[in-house]
Amino acid sequence: MDRHLLSINDLTRAEAFGILNTAHELAIISDGTLKKLPTLRGRTVVNLFFEDSTRTRISFESAAKRLSADVINFSAKGSSVSKGESLKDTAQTLQAMGADAVIIRHGASGAAQRLADSGWIQASVINAGDGTHEHPTQALLDAYTIRNSFPEYTDSFEGLRVAIVGDILHSRVARSNVLLLKKLGAQVTLLAPPTLLPVGVDSWGVETSYQFDEVIPKVDVVMMLRVQSERMLDSFFPSEREYSRSFGLDSRRLDLLPPRSIVMHPGPMNRGLEISAESADSHKSVVLAQVANGVLIRMAVLYQLLGGQTLGDISSVQPITQVANK
Ligand code: CP
Repeated sequence: MDRHLLSINDLTRAEAFGILNTAHELAIISDGTLKKLPTLRGRTVVNLFFEDSTRTRISFESAAKRLSADVINFSAKGSSVSKGESLKDTAQTLQAMGADAVIIRHGASGAAQRLADSGWIQASVINAGDGTHEHPTQALLDAYTIRNSFPEYTDSFEGLRVAIVGDILHSRVARSNVLLLKKLGAQVTLLAPPTLLPVGVDSWGVETSYQFDEVIPKVDVVMMLRVQSERMLDSFFPSEREYSRSFGLDSRRLDLLPPRSIVMHPGPMNRGLEISAESADSHKSVVLAQVANGVLIRMAVLYQLLGGQTLGDISSVQPITQVANK
């Protein structure tokens, strides 16, 4: 694996499965009360968030702490960025503080790549969401969650059918998921109104449809996306009611899903718009499992970027409580 994780394109299929396997081993090691590992003791991880986040920021913080790293949380709000400080000066300040990894979320597509290519810092850069471009750790935690629900796809997603539904145009989650799911072998269908499908989607190597009711009985996974009103400067559909009727997951559509299928949503959810409360809270929903798995996947990514080269096989790492008992 490269020094940075900026895009799913940075990973080979074997490396992607390697991260899922490391997360699985971490789940076994950190099960129960044995949650903290000494792996990244003495390393500093910086959460550099220029856009709001709940799940990603907290789970990266939790992941780094469980690996014993020191964590610095930087939010643009309340920092010198609001006084006009540039990304360069902010990055160089973090470099002076000895950051080993910088996890960046930014409203501009390409911001993570800019930081990695800049030479301003020596740290590993992890993309935690850049504009409408990519959110690679979200796709990895989604793949891990899918694999936990369908153990028959442990080594390959060939034959798995996934529908990604909603605001594809503004979704970095959709882009990273399409890249990763295809890499792992899944068959992907994008469902959205024409106005919310990106120009050039024909070249993505996926199917597209506007007919939710026709697609839903044929999928193993239905991944609902948030309508990103904050990125919409124009009107993209006639009304919320109309959008919900055509592209929302309600209890009627929930009943059309095959028995073993699962419902996913990266969060935050607009309940009553793209997903009904019944669907979000149904026995098919794995939304909270996605959040929990986010910590494991982010531990696996930090381990592989910062510790994997020198510390070898994760299965040989002992939890701190066991070390302390010796
Ligand atoms: N899925 C996701 O990125 O959620 P947050 O915006 O809360 O981090």
